[in-house]
Amino acid sequence: MSEPASTEQYNYKIVRQFAIMTIVWGIVGMTVGVLIASQLAWPAMNFDTAWFSFGRLRPLHTNAVIFAFGGSALFATSYYVVQRTCYATLFSPKLAAFTFWGWQLVIILAIITLPLGYTSSKEYAELEWPIDLLIGLVWVSYAVVFFGTIAKRKIKHIYVANWFFGGFIITVAVLHIFNSMALPVGALKSYSMYSGVQDAMIQWWYGHNAVGFFLTAGFLGIMYYFIPKQAERPVYSYRLSVVHFWALSFTYIWAGPHHLHYTALPDWTQSLGMAMSLILLAPSWGGMINGIMTLSGSWEKLRSDPILKFLIVSVSFYGMSTFEGPMMAIKTVNALSHFTDWTIGHVHSGALGWVAFISIGAMYYLIPRLFNREIYSTRLIETHFWIATIGVVLYITSMWISGIMQGLMWRAVNADGTLTYSFVESVQAMHPFYIIRFLGGVFFLTGMFIMAYNIRKTIAGATPAEAAVAVPAAH
Ligand code: HEM
Ligand code: HEM
Repeated sequence: MSEPASTEQYNYKIVRQFAIMTIVWGIVGMTVGVLIASQLAWPAMNFDTAWFSFGRLRPLHTNAVIFAFGGSALFATSYYVVQRTCYATLFSPKLAAFTFWGWQLVIILAIITLPLGYTSSKEYAELEWPIDLLIGLVWVSYAVVFFGTIAKRKIKHIYVANWFFGGFIITVAVLHIFNSMALPVGALKSYSMYSGVQDAMIQWWYGHNAVGFFLTAGFLGIMYYFIPKQAERPVYSYRLSVVHFWALSFTYIWAGPHHLHYTALPDWTQSLGMAMSLILLAPSWGGMINGIMTLSGSWEKLRSDPILKFLIVSVSFYGMSTFEGPMMAIKTVNALSHFTDWTIGHVHSGALGWVAFISIGAMYYLIPRLFNREIYSTRLIETHFWIATIGVVLYITSMWISGIMQGLMWRAVNADGTLTYSFVESVQAMHPFYIIRFLGGVFFLTGMFIMAYNIRKTIAGATPAEAAVAVPAAH
């Protein structure tokens, strides 16, 4: 694997840094997830402390898992893939290093400010304006490094994974900049530039596309590189992958209003959002089929290769959550699901089943190569896979049952028009399912600790020089 270091070498240092931080932030973010899950089951877990309360820790969880864990996985994989598929080293290593340290600083600032109660109160965009500025700076630098590398490529063709990474980088920049426009009134306090329903519309245009581009397009980039590599098969249909990219990018951007059904938003906007969400099923499933069918001809590998299991099961969860999402976008279904745990179940079938699984699979592929080591234990990866799968299943099934039960209890009426159940009766009924969700979280988190141990053992004693890989000559 290692080649003479006489010529130019791939910049693996930054990939190693982000890859390790993926595991670290995964553990941190999911530990907070387990903690807030315990608070919902046993409120005493708030310990009567403001900064430990659910309202402050919930955004800490979402920021840590989406931006710290998911973000680090995306930085690591995109920096690796763009170099390997362009036969080029990263453009501007110094700027690349800035994206690493800048991103870590953003995360540390989030860990400090959110529990202290500083928040813009926009979901998934809670961080206050000075941190937003830093995010903007890091993100633009990321774009420069990524597209700079594409520009200096030695291969004419731009591999499809890079299209997905590129689309994700550009769209997230646009979303972040427009949604964060605010008037600062103090060092850590600002007011949104938009008001009323416009503010809500901009927020959910951002929020939904954070799902579509941060939690989906970037991870599809991972799918298109790591599944063919691990399966040692070409992408099932390259043509479909290109159609997938354009159709997904076009459709996602319209779907935001499905978060605002039955609000003051004009009704036609809501219906348009619903229609586009239903259409979104097609490109999503096209991509899912393309990912899974890449395995055709080597299905037997699924029996023995736990990394492939992580990757393929993640794509199955992607298919499941992108079927469920369009259904929940139908107004009459949303009338039941909105405000309930059904949404939380949907979120985590995407977030744990798709995003976390594919990230974990990619890290198991990547880290031994980045350190030029064999994985310490394949059996531990297998254990991780099963324990994580049990965790996700416990999480999402308990939330489906709890969510649909909540929705039905809240809308049940007696013959005389009075409510059949008081609110507190629905809270009581949810309790067992909150305990099951907590256990699911404990399973998933345990898997992450097994991974950390396995990786620690794998890379012990490795030196960067051993893992140096020379960039091949022009193709
Ligand atoms: C051990 C694993 C995890 C546990 C136990 C966990 C637990 C939780 C809990 C208890 C909530 C609050 C639910 C509520 O307000 O009713 C939540 C929200 C959320 N979590 Fe997780 N989580 C985990 C992993 C993840 C991961 C890996 C991601 C993303 C990649 C994620 C993304 C989210 C999001 C986006 C929300 C907000 C959902 C919404 O507002 O509808 N979680 N999580
Ligand atoms: C075709 C694809 C999808 C569609 C049409 C869709 C649709 C929806 C709908 C209708 C809701 C409920 C909105 C509400 O009642 O407030 C929702 C919530 C959510 N979905 Fe999806 N979904 C899709 C895929 C995904 C995937 C793959 C993920 C994660 C990786 C995801 C993450 C989320 C999150 C985080 C929320 C909660 C937003 C909040 O905080 O309220 N979705 N989605």
